[in-house]
Amino acid sequence: MTIINNASLKPFNTFGIDANAQSYCDISSIEALKDILKAQHSKPLFFLGGGSNMLLTKDIEALVLHINLKGIEVVSETEDTVIVKAMAGENWHNFVLWCLQHNYGGIENLSLIPGNIGTAPIQNIGAYGVELKDVFSSCEAINVENQTLKTFLKPDCNFGYRESIFKQDLKGDYIITSVNLQLTKTNHHLRIDYGAIKNELEDLQIENPTIQDVSKAVIAIRHSKLPDPKEIGNSGSFFKNPIVTAATFKALEANFADAPSYVVSEDEIKVPAGWLIEKAGFKGKRFKDYGVHDKQALVLVNYGNAKGKDIFKLAQLIQKTVKRLFNITIETEVNII
Ligand code: EPU
Repeated sequence: MTIINNASLKPFNTFGIDANAQSYCDISSIEALKDILKAQHSKPLFFLGGGSNMLLTKDIEALVLHINLKGIEVVSETEDTVIVKAMAGENWHNFVLWCLQHNYGGIENLSLIPGNIGTAPIQNIGAYGVELKDVFSSCEAINVENQTLKTFLKPDCNFGYRESIFKQDLKGDYIITSVNLQLTKTNHHLRIDYGAIKNELEDLQIENPTIQDVSKAVIAIRHSKLPDPKEIGNSGSFFKNPIVTAATFKALEANFADAPSYVVSEDEIKVPAGWLIEKAGFKGKRFKDYGVHDKQALVLVNYGNAKGKDIFKLAQLIQKTVKRLFNITIETEVNII
């Protein structure tokens, strides 16, 4: 276990922000993680997974522990279903591809989401009508205080829209080390009602899609709308889609008859933040080395050497403008560090 002093975190965050860590350590075993937590108990620690959901606005005055635990294994199976355990440091999309190779279904709609297995439950990743919680069975996590391993079952996690207990009540208390997902081996339950998937499958002239076809369609859609972090730094959706009351939505609709929406419950309506930001005139806007993506206004981008501080200022300007124009508050989905 090597601790490096004054390390750049640029390679470890998908926004590609060049912030420094006071010190940095790559963690590749649970034993090493336990040891370092015990040894560094009183010092400030910062846990880093795939770095795909954070904006670094400053240097990290702490020991950064990069959770790099690897491994994928089948834990149990029946004729129709399988429980697969993946370690926290596995790349999410590589894991999706592994499942598709084995013909395990359930996460094909979540193809190409950046980040690692260990961070997927924290924000209950979701796309194209599927959320992690739909296939989540359990996860194991280490208690930072006393280094004991605890299993969290689905009901323990309080999953919601881009939410979980790990972002709320237990924030900073546990490090997720592995996740167990329950997937299908036969009778895959395809979720293809999402408009863009339907259209993409039609374009590909696929009538009876397999899970591999659905993944292909999702990958094509994401490529057409979302920037590849390897080419342009970003953290996916920077904001959450706001959920407003029916009255607020009525007021919005009175001025903008074309406002898109999804009904969440009787008095809760989700409005796409991307639409609000586009209407506010920010889509495709570029300021020096950073800006708003031209094909999806929900995504802020780093074109090269942008500072996290500048991107954060832009996010605040967007929030203020959306509030002023539509009287709707949009919250960041990305963690601002
Ligand atoms: N829209 C615009 N302009 C834009 C973007 C979107 O008008 O620039 C409107 C369109 O009317 C469109 C609607 O917003 O029909 C919805 O857009 P889209 O299908 O692209 O989805 P989204 O609500 O903007 C969410 C997730 C994405 C996920 C997609 C697909 C959140 C915060 N984001 O975006 O997740 O890929 O649905 O399911 O819920 C991520 O979390 O990083 C992410 C990319």
